[in-house]
Amino acid sequence: MDFTDKVVIVTGASSGIGAATAVLYAKQSAKVVIVGRNETGLNKVAQQCEAAKGLKPLIVKADLTSDEDVKKIATRTIEIFGKIDVLVNNAGVGFRGSVRDGVELFDQAMASNLRPAYLLTGLITQHLMKTKGNIVNVSSVAAFRPIKDLDFTPYCISKAGLDMFTKCVALELARDGIRVNSVNPGGTKTPFVEAAGFTKQQAEEVFENRKTIYPLGKVCTTEEVAELILYLSSEKARSITGGIFVIDNGEILT
Ligand SMILES: NC(=O)c1ccc[n+]([C@@H]2O[C@H](COP(=O)([O-])OP(=O)(O)OC[C@H]3O[C@@H](n4cnc5c(N)ncnc54)[C@H](OP(=O)(O)O)[C@@H]3O)[C@@H](O)[C@H]2O)c1
Repeated sequence: MDFTDKVVIVTGASSGIGAATAVLYAKQSAKVVIVGRNETGLNKVAQQCEAAKGLKPLIVKADLTSDEDVKKIATRTIEIFGKIDVLVNNAGVGFRGSVRDGVELFDQAMASNLRPAYLLTGLITQHLMKTKGNIVNVSSVAAFRPIKDLDFTPYCISKAGLDMFTKCVALELARDGIRVNSVNPGGTKTPFVEAAGFTKQQAEEVFENRKTIYPLGKVCTTEEVAELILYLSSEKARSITGGIFVIDNGEILT
């Protein structure tokens, strides 16, 4: 897959799946825009991107729960690179909680995991129309069914919403030649579990436990998920839109 001269925005690129995705695009000669809050993480990923093919990525430090910051992603990308070919709406947080806890966590999950994708997609559609570009949303197998032994209700609902967003927008934008797809990972070794409020040791236990449950006996690597994202955003996937693509070592079969 060759992304020479393609401008790719990856949200949540300071860590985990987003970081691996940004680096993989850079290795395929893309001009990458990396978005996140954590400056140390963003700088580290920027160095890895630049080391790949010598192309300096654009860092946009942004909190996606701020509309002004989301708007900055679109304006800075156009200022620096002049166009947009691919948007990867990857940023997300594993908000845990029960319906008994009140509506605050639900609001936070929507504000982090769904609203920014909706807003940013709307803002850049005009640019994707010009390039006949495409969007990949990073959802989760948690969009299909609750996570059994852990209270992740707000998170699951936000990802189910994201999948419907993918389908609705794929239909809406198809007439403009813009494709929209979703990658739905199962357990993937990243700081995600700790970011959801577990200790490091608990996070290790969650991943070890998952390995014993998943039919293929392992969790995903970030690079594997990144490969699927790149494929869907590439010319090879030109007939694919509105698709929900699971990469989960068989998790949803259990
Ligand atoms: N790991 C898994 O097992 C798994 C499974 C299924 C789906 N996923 C999905 O995969 C995606 C990536 O997660 P990950 O596993 O790579 O976790 P991660 O390592 O914790 O990365 C999450 C990324 O999202 C960014 N982010 C979160 N809230 C943000 C905000 N308000 N503003 C800007 N950036 C924000 C973080 O950036 P900063 O810290 O810099 O703000 C970070 O770069 C998420 O959508 C997640 O739901 C993960």
